[in-house]
Amino acid sequence: DETKAGVKGLVDAGIKHVPRMFNRPPYELEKNSSVSVGGNGIHASVPVIDLEGTKEDPGARREIVEKVRNASESWGFFQVVNHGIPVSVLEDMKDGVVSFFEQDLEFKKKFYTRDSTKKVIYSSNFHLYSSPAADWKDTLFCCMAPDPPLPEELPEVSRDVIMEYTKHVRQFCCLLFELLSEALGLQPDHLRDMDCAESLIILSHYYPACPQPELTLGITKHSDSDFLTVILQDHISGLQVLHQNQWVDITPIPGALVVNIGDLLQLISNDVFKSVEHRVVSRSVGPRASVACFLGTVHQPNTRTYGPIKQLLSEKSPPKYREVTIREYVSYFNSKGLDGKSALPHFK
Ligand code: SIN
Ligand code: FE2
Repeated sequence: DETKAGVKGLVDAGIKHVPRMFNRPPYELEKNSSVSVGGNGIHASVPVIDLEGTKEDPGARREIVEKVRNASESWGFFQVVNHGIPVSVLEDMKDGVVSFFEQDLEFKKKFYTRDSTKKVIYSSNFHLYSSPAADWKDTLFCCMAPDPPLPEELPEVSRDVIMEYTKHVRQFCCLLFELLSEALGLQPDHLRDMDCAESLIILSHYYPACPQPELTLGITKHSDSDFLTVILQDHISGLQVLHQNQWVDITPIPGALVVNIGDLLQLISNDVFKSVEHRVVSRSVGPRASVACFLGTVHQPNTRTYGPIKQLLSEKSPPKYREVTIREYVSYFNSKGLDGKSALPHFK
């Protein structure tokens, strides 16, 4: 039961020291966050894009598309406000996630499995055996599209909110993929027609307050292997993006969502959009809760082929990657272990 109790179980048991398996080497723990970049005193932060008017006002939409393009090229991350998902839906989802993790172990145990083909999985560290160190968090994995679990397969305390949030996020992602297509100079439906929004995995994370946050991380440095990720974070900061070689905090904004480009979108955009490394630091305050939605994920390997989009190629911009099937991509990604490194260079 010890592993099933997760990191929360350790904290509930009153530990004062972080167990060895969570310890990180010093170079992984470097702080240097929230620094000014470029030496001109400008405080760098992830762009915040207001989506108001995207649907009704062509002029506003053009400006928004331009901002999406700039952010996706230079940061690989942006935050969005006025995204159309009611704040109450976001709040309910956060609360629903926290309630799941705060259930008794007897209840959570029913969702604990090492069978990665299951659609709903509670675990502390999925990749404990392929990862160099454990992350200071517990996670609930839900594969919500294209084949969602039966409602009764979802944990009862969070069932309704997960289904409601899924509906809203999928709709919002259709809009996002339109804006990203336009930002690449393509027809609005281009990325959706490539099935980039077909599958959805929701990872809900719970980061308990950590007694020695300077020794461990909530999530190790990594880039996402999907097309696109949408993150809902609560009011406690911890998420950081690597920008110009500095760790920059992604400061929580009430009602906002964080969007980031994944490896597969970098590949099909032929490096126009960047899949950027990020991490979550541990905090002495908590718990911190977050919900990360992965679009076009690698969970269900299929044989569809992806390569740089033809319309983006020219004599001046030759393809930087070869065509790759999702199956091949996944099998390489899994075989290399969770070293935090992108799988992309392998497909140059
Ligand atoms: C991530 O999915 O990489 C981070 C999610 C979070 O902010 O907790
Ligand atoms: Fe991530």
